[in-house]
Amino acid sequence: MKLKAILAAALLAVGLSVNAQTIIKFSHVVAADTPKGKASEFFAKKAAELTKGKVKVEVYANSALYKDKEEMEALQMGSVQMLAPSLAKFGPLGVKEFEAFDLPFIFDDTADLHKITQGPVGAALMAKLEPRGIKGLAYWDNGFKSFSANVPLKSPADFKGKKFRIQSSKVLEEQIRSVGGIPQVLAFSEVYQALQTGVVDGTENPNSNFFTQKMHEVQKHMTITNHGYLGYAVIVNKKFWDSLPADVRGQLEEAMKESTVYANKIAQEENDKALEGVKASGKTTIYTPTKDERLTLKKAMAPVHTKMADRVGKETLQQIYTATGFDPSKL
Ligand code: LMR
Repeated sequence: MKLKAILAAALLAVGLSVNAQTIIKFSHVVAADTPKGKASEFFAKKAAELTKGKVKVEVYANSALYKDKEEMEALQMGSVQMLAPSLAKFGPLGVKEFEAFDLPFIFDDTADLHKITQGPVGAALMAKLEPRGIKGLAYWDNGFKSFSANVPLKSPADFKGKKFRIQSSKVLEEQIRSVGGIPQVLAFSEVYQALQTGVVDGTENPNSNFFTQKMHEVQKHMTITNHGYLGYAVIVNKKFWDSLPADVRGQLEEAMKESTVYANKIAQEENDKALEGVKASGKTTIYTPTKDERLTLKKAMAPVHTKMADRVGKETLQQIYTATGFDPSKL
């Protein structure tokens, strides 16, 4: 008997399998207590359940393993198997079309957004990742962003000359420039300190990220502008994914399907809870712009659509406009 067969017989005798458990390292940059944090834990539980323990998903939250840029490299090298980066972070990978999601005011609401993430445009964008060795599994919602600073932000003039931390997206860069601000790309893990020390004056994020990173401790004002969307693509290393037995892959696909329903169900609730938390802290004054103030901001940012059309791809953009009915020329 060969050594492996002897070992298998011995393991079987004590009820263990010869096949080692598959480990999926799932790395992300936000707190565990956020839409993405909770959805990744949900996926880990479902994956264990549906694969009957054949797969163990280890979730590393809060940039514990890698920061924004490093996590993309780690995924491609196979040091981690799964990530859920914000859609604003795919430009450096060479898939600039994802930055269409960053265009200001492009989605009126979540229903508009789901026409893209749950439709053919979303699927076509995911397919663009495959030549980079990445497979896209799902889109997870976070939500719409608020702006914050140490001064009230009510009109475009209030942004002038101020430094705003943004994610690594050229569309976001142009968005800040459109109102006279100075964009500064920083990793998510560096934002709190940058705000605290005055490296930047303000930022933008959904309320759940703002609150769980304690940005309310270092930002006196927040404006509920809902000017842009922040959400995620859950992605895996393609070589790893293709190497899984077909039945296990099917079980993981089912786990991901259920986790996506869960993620999209809790996202708004988590952002609402976070806003209550910011209010209760008493540290940040929250301002809701009037309809006119919001329209003024929308008009000021509208040229970003034309300027960035080539970058995000005119065809992709037109498909989004057709699906959502958005027409920047009508502003
Ligand atoms: C950010 O960098 O602001 C966000 O992408 C963080 C996240 O993953 O939600």
